[in-house]
Amino acid sequence: MINNTNVEKLLINYKTLEQFKRFKEYGNQELSMMEDLQNNIVENNSESPFYGIYFGHNLIARMSLYRMKAKYDNYFSPAQDYLELWKLEVLPDYRGQGYGKIMVDFAKSFQLPIKTNPRINSHGFWEKMGFQKAQYEMERDLGQNPLIWLPEGVSEKDV
Ligand SMILES: CC(C)(COP(=O)(O)OP(=O)(O)OC[C@H]1O[C@@H](n2cnc3c(N)ncnc32)[C@H](O)[C@@H]1OP(=O)(O)O)[C@@H](O)C(=O)NCCC(=O)NCCS
Repeated sequence: MINNTNVEKLLINYKTLEQFKRFKEYGNQELSMMEDLQNNIVENNSESPFYGIYFGHNLIARMSLYRMKAKYDNYFSPAQDYLELWKLEVLPDYRGQGYGKIMVDFAKSFQLPIKTNPRINSHGFWEKMGFQKAQYEMERDLGQNPLIWLPEGVSEKDV
Protein backbone atom coordinates (compact mmCIF):
# COMPACT_ATOMS: atom_id res chain seq x y z
CA MET A 1 0.00 0.00 0.00
CA ILE A 2 1.17 3.50 -0.74
CA ASN A 3 0.70 6.15 1.91
CA ASN A 4 0.85 9.92 1.74
CA THR A 5 0.54 10.09 -2.00
CA ASN A 6 -0.80 13.39 -3.23
CA VAL A 7 -2.21 14.11 -6.62
CA GLU A 8 -1.19 17.65 -7.52
CA LYS A 9 -2.36 20.10 -10.12
CA LEU A 10 0.61 20.64 -12.43
CA LEU A 11 1.87 24.10 -13.29
CA ILE A 12 3.22 25.00 -16.71
CA ASN A 13 6.93 25.68 -16.35
CA TYR A 14 10.12 24.41 -17.99
CA LYS A 15 10.65 21.81 -15.29
CA THR A 16 7.19 20.24 -15.70
CA LEU A 17 7.48 20.28 -19.48
CA GLU A 18 10.88 18.60 -19.27
CA GLN A 19 9.40 15.87 -17.05
CA PHE A 20 6.56 15.34 -19.56
CA LYS A 21 9.13 14.11 -22.10
CA ARG A 22 9.44 10.88 -20.15
CA PHE A 23 5.84 9.94 -20.90
CA LYS A 24 4.97 7.98 -24.00
CA GLU A 25 1.98 10.08 -24.92
CA TYR A 26 4.02 13.23 -25.50
CA GLY A 27 2.71 15.19 -28.44
CA ASN A 28 1.03 18.31 -29.74
CA GLN A 29 -0.54 19.29 -26.44
CA GLU A 30 2.85 19.38 -24.70
CA LEU A 31 4.60 21.08 -27.62
CA SER A 32 1.98 23.79 -27.76
CA MET A 33 2.31 24.40 -24.00
CA MET A 34 6.07 24.77 -24.53
CA GLU A 35 5.56 27.27 -27.37
CA ASP A 36 3.07 29.27 -25.32
CA LEU A 37 5.58 29.46 -22.50
CA GLN A 38 8.47 30.43 -24.78
CA ASN A 39 6.40 33.12 -26.49
CA ASN A 40 5.05 34.48 -23.20
CA ILE A 41 1.50 33.60 -24.21
CA VAL A 42 1.14 31.90 -20.85
CA GLU A 43 2.96 32.97 -17.72
CA ASN A 44 5.43 30.73 -15.98
CA ASN A 45 3.59 28.56 -13.46
CA SER A 46 0.16 28.96 -15.08
CA GLU A 47 -2.25 26.17 -14.30
CA SER A 48 -2.44 23.31 -16.78
CA PRO A 49 -5.16 20.70 -17.28
CA PHE A 50 -2.68 18.12 -15.97
CA TYR A 51 -2.55 16.46 -12.58
CA GLY A 52 0.27 14.25 -11.40
CA ILE A 53 2.05 12.36 -8.66
CA TYR A 54 5.64 13.10 -7.66
CA PHE A 55 7.95 10.50 -6.20
CA GLY A 56 10.68 12.67 -4.71
CA HIS A 57 11.31 15.24 -7.44
CA ASN A 58 10.22 12.95 -10.25
CA LEU A 59 6.83 13.08 -11.89
CA ILE A 60 5.82 9.40 -12.10
CA ALA A 61 2.15 9.57 -13.09
CA ARG A 62 0.01 12.10 -14.87
CA MET A 63 -3.36 12.66 -16.53
CA SER A 64 -5.29 15.49 -18.10
CA LEU A 65 -8.70 16.37 -16.70
CA TYR A 66 -10.98 18.87 -18.38
CA ARG A 67 -14.39 19.97 -17.17
CA MET A 68 -16.91 19.96 -20.02
CA LYS A 69 -19.99 22.13 -19.80
CA ALA A 70 -23.45 20.59 -19.48
CA LYS A 71 -24.53 22.09 -22.82
CA TYR A 72 -21.94 19.85 -24.56
CA ASP A 73 -22.95 16.74 -22.64
CA ASN A 74 -24.06 13.96 -24.99
CA TYR A 75 -23.31 11.07 -22.66
CA PHE A 76 -25.12 11.46 -19.36
CA SER A 77 -28.62 11.78 -17.97
CA PRO A 78 -29.53 14.27 -16.66
CA ALA A 79 -27.21 16.35 -18.88
CA GLN A 80 -24.57 17.96 -16.67
CA ASP A 81 -20.97 19.11 -16.42
CA TYR A 82 -18.62 16.16 -16.72
CA LEU A 83 -14.89 15.42 -16.81
CA GLU A 84 -12.93 14.35 -19.85
CA LEU A 85 -9.92 12.33 -18.74
CA TRP A 86 -7.03 11.64 -21.11
CA LYS A 87 -3.34 10.80 -21.13
CA LEU A 88 -3.46 8.79 -17.93
CA GLU A 89 -0.03 7.22 -17.75
CA VAL A 90 2.17 5.78 -15.03
CA LEU A 91 5.90 5.50 -15.85
CA PRO A 92 6.83 1.82 -16.48
CA ASP A 93 8.94 1.37 -13.32
CA TYR A 94 6.02 2.46 -11.14
CA ARG A 95 3.16 0.47 -12.67
CA GLY A 96 1.25 -2.14 -10.71
CA GLN A 97 1.73 -0.30 -7.41
CA GLY A 98 -1.61 1.45 -7.14
CA TYR A 99 -0.69 4.83 -8.65
CA GLY A 100 -3.11 4.49 -11.56
CA LYS A 101 -5.93 3.81 -9.13
CA ILE A 102 -4.96 6.82 -6.98
CA MET A 103 -5.18 9.02 -10.08
CA VAL A 104 -8.59 7.68 -11.08
CA ASP A 105 -9.90 7.94 -7.50
CA PHE A 106 -8.80 11.57 -7.52
CA ALA A 107 -10.76 12.20 -10.73
CA LYS A 108 -13.81 10.50 -9.19
CA SER A 109 -13.56 12.68 -6.08
CA PHE A 110 -15.05 15.62 -8.02
CA GLN A 111 -18.29 13.61 -8.05
CA LEU A 112 -18.88 14.39 -11.71
CA PRO A 113 -19.39 11.78 -14.42
CA ILE A 114 -16.18 10.95 -16.29
CA LYS A 115 -15.57 10.08 -19.91
CA THR A 116 -12.34 8.65 -21.23
CA ASN A 117 -11.14 7.13 -24.47
CA PRO A 118 -8.83 4.34 -23.42
CA ARG A 119 -5.85 2.84 -25.14
CA ILE A 120 -6.62 -0.61 -26.50
CA ASN A 121 -4.54 -2.52 -23.97
CA SER A 122 -5.86 -0.84 -20.85
CA HIS A 123 -9.49 -2.08 -20.80
CA GLY A 124 -8.86 -4.44 -17.89
CA PHE A 125 -7.65 -1.54 -15.79
CA TRP A 126 -10.66 0.64 -16.58
CA GLU A 127 -13.07 -2.20 -15.86
CA LYS A 128 -11.45 -2.59 -12.43
CA MET A 129 -11.92 1.13 -11.89
CA GLY A 130 -15.68 0.75 -12.48
CA PHE A 131 -15.81 2.27 -15.95
CA GLN A 132 -18.21 0.88 -18.54
CA LYS A 133 -18.43 1.06 -22.31
CA ALA A 134 -20.73 3.81 -23.51
CA GLN A 135 -23.31 2.64 -26.02
CA TYR A 136 -21.77 3.31 -29.41
CA GLU A 137 -23.35 6.13 -31.37
CA MET A 138 -21.65 6.68 -34.69
CA GLU A 139 -22.13 10.40 -35.18
CA ARG A 140 -21.01 11.12 -31.66
CA ASP A 141 -18.24 8.59 -31.19
CA LEU A 142 -16.88 8.09 -34.73
CA GLY A 143 -13.63 6.14 -34.29
CA GLN A 144 -13.67 6.29 -30.50
CA ASN A 145 -14.76 3.66 -28.00
CA PRO A 146 -15.49 5.82 -24.99
CA LEU A 147 -15.68 4.49 -21.48
CA ILE A 148 -17.73 6.26 -18.83
CA TRP A 149 -17.98 6.34 -15.07
CA LEU A 150 -21.28 7.22 -13.42
CA PRO A 151 -21.47 8.70 -9.94
CA GLU A 152 -24.54 7.86 -7.88
CA GLY A 153 -27.76 9.25 -9.28
CA VAL A 154 -26.42 9.64 -12.82
CA SER A 155 -27.23 7.33 -15.71
CA GLU A 156 -26.09 6.99 -19.26
CA LYS A 157 -28.00 8.97 -21.85
CA ASP A 158 -30.00 6.78 -24.20
CA VAL A 159 -28.77 7.09 -27.75
C1 LIG B 1 -2.94 1.57 -17.28
C2 LIG B 1 -2.12 2.23 -16.18
C3 LIG B 1 -2.48 3.71 -16.11
C4 LIG B 1 -2.46 1.56 -14.83
O1 LIG B 1 -1.72 2.16 -13.79
P1 LIG B 1 -1.04 1.28 -12.64
O2 LIG B 1 -0.49 2.20 -11.63
O3 LIG B 1 -0.13 0.29 -13.24
O4 LIG B 1 -2.33 0.52 -12.05
P2 LIG B 1 -2.66 0.17 -10.53
O5 LIG B 1 -1.42 -0.42 -9.92
O6 LIG B 1 -3.26 1.33 -9.85
O7 LIG B 1 -3.73 -0.97 -10.74
C5 LIG B 1 -5.03 -0.94 -10.17
C6 LIG B 1 -5.70 -2.28 -10.46
O8 LIG B 1 -5.86 -2.46 -11.88
C7 LIG B 1 -5.20 -3.66 -12.31
N1 LIG B 1 -4.59 -3.40 -13.64
C8 LIG B 1 -3.62 -2.50 -13.95
N2 LIG B 1 -3.35 -2.51 -15.27
C9 LIG B 1 -4.15 -3.46 -15.80
C10 LIG B 1 -4.33 -3.96 -17.13
N3 LIG B 1 -3.64 -3.47 -18.18
N4 LIG B 1 -5.25 -4.95 -17.31
C11 LIG B 1 -5.96 -5.45 -16.26
N5 LIG B 1 -5.83 -5.01 -14.99
C12 LIG B 1 -4.94 -4.02 -14.77
C13 LIG B 1 -4.15 -3.93 -11.26
O9 LIG B 1 -3.84 -5.30 -11.22
C14 LIG B 1 -4.84 -3.47 -10.00
O10 LIG B 1 -5.76 -4.45 -9.55
P3 LIG B 1 -5.90 -4.82 -7.98
O11 LIG B 1 -6.46 -3.55 -7.34
O12 LIG B 1 -6.85 -5.95 -7.97
O13 LIG B 1 -4.53 -5.12 -7.50
C15 LIG B 1 -0.60 2.06 -16.42
O14 LIG B 1 -0.28 0.72 -16.49
C16 LIG B 1 -0.09 2.76 -17.69
O15 LIG B 1 0.31 3.90 -17.64
N6 LIG B 1 -0.07 2.07 -18.84
C17 LIG B 1 0.39 2.63 -20.10
C18 LIG B 1 -0.46 3.76 -20.62
C19 LIG B 1 -1.91 3.39 -20.77
O16 LIG B 1 -2.25 2.32 -21.24
N7 LIG B 1 -2.80 4.32 -20.37
C20 LIG B 1 -4.23 4.10 -20.38
C21 LIG B 1 -5.02 5.34 -20.48
S1 LIG B 1 -4.87 6.16 -22.05
